[in-house]
Amino acid sequence: MTAMIRVETLSKTYVLHTQGGVSIPVFADADLEVAGGECVTLHGPSGSGKSTLLRCLYGNCKPDAGAIRVRHDGAEVDIAAADPRDVLAVRKHTMGYVSQFLRAIPRVPALDVVAEPLRAVGVPAETARGRAAELLARLRIPERLWALAPATFSGGEQQRVNIARGFAAGHPILLLDEPTASLDARNRAVVIELIEEAKAAGTALVGVFHDDEVREAVSTRIFSMLG
Ligand SMILES: Nc1ncnc2c1ncn2[C@@H]1O[C@H](COP(=O)(O)OP(=O)(O)O)[C@@H](O)[C@H]1O
Ligand SMILES: [Mg+2]
Repeated sequence: MTAMIRVETLSKTYVLHTQGGVSIPVFADADLEVAGGECVTLHGPSGSGKSTLLRCLYGNCKPDAGAIRVRHDGAEVDIAAADPRDVLAVRKHTMGYVSQFLRAIPRVPALDVVAEPLRAVGVPAETARGRAAELLARLRIPERLWALAPATFSGGEQQRVNIARGFAAGHPILLLDEPTASLDARNRAVVIELIEEAKAAGTALVGVFHDDEVREAVSTRIFSMLG
């Protein structure tokens, strides 16, 4: 299968300008290819650069060297070099990201937070809300909460809204940063199902999974962050 993501000799060092220019090398010369239908798990101890690599893939963190070639709209876009407008187009149509924490959008109801990625690509409101409702129900968010903004939700509820939003559009690439960290066993099982369905649909996934059970269930390959 053709690669959806090709990371080539990617390097990242943080420089702390406010602390005397101290350098924190995170990874160097990282190579990684991910095809559709795969779920590659980034594995390594806390601080080994898993979130940094995912943020680079999503264009939220600028690597110092290397390329991140993403298959988008029949061509390849290098996220490490692309201009912001192209990065936004890739996010809209090609690459979803479930961050560790939901950035709650004030006053937007949970149902619309989840439906928004579908609305952004032109799906009619009723269809988008229908798909959002289906995901919120599967992730056991009580229906009485759907019309409320997630700002007051519990950590686990916010994370489930975040997961529903990430899976809503069915992007061909999906990045997951510890999506199950604050979930109970029943909801973890739902996330495993969603990942399996995405793999079956040909999605290329890159994830960090905090618990062994989820990692063992979903990973097709482990990418070690130990250098
Ligand atoms: N924005 C940042 N500025 C400076 N250092 C950072 C920043 N983000 C992460 N780091 C450092 O980079 C290293 C990797 O962090 P991170 O990617 O969050 O690791 P992981 O997700 O594997 O726990 C850590 O040493 C962390 O302190
Ligand atoms: Mg992390």
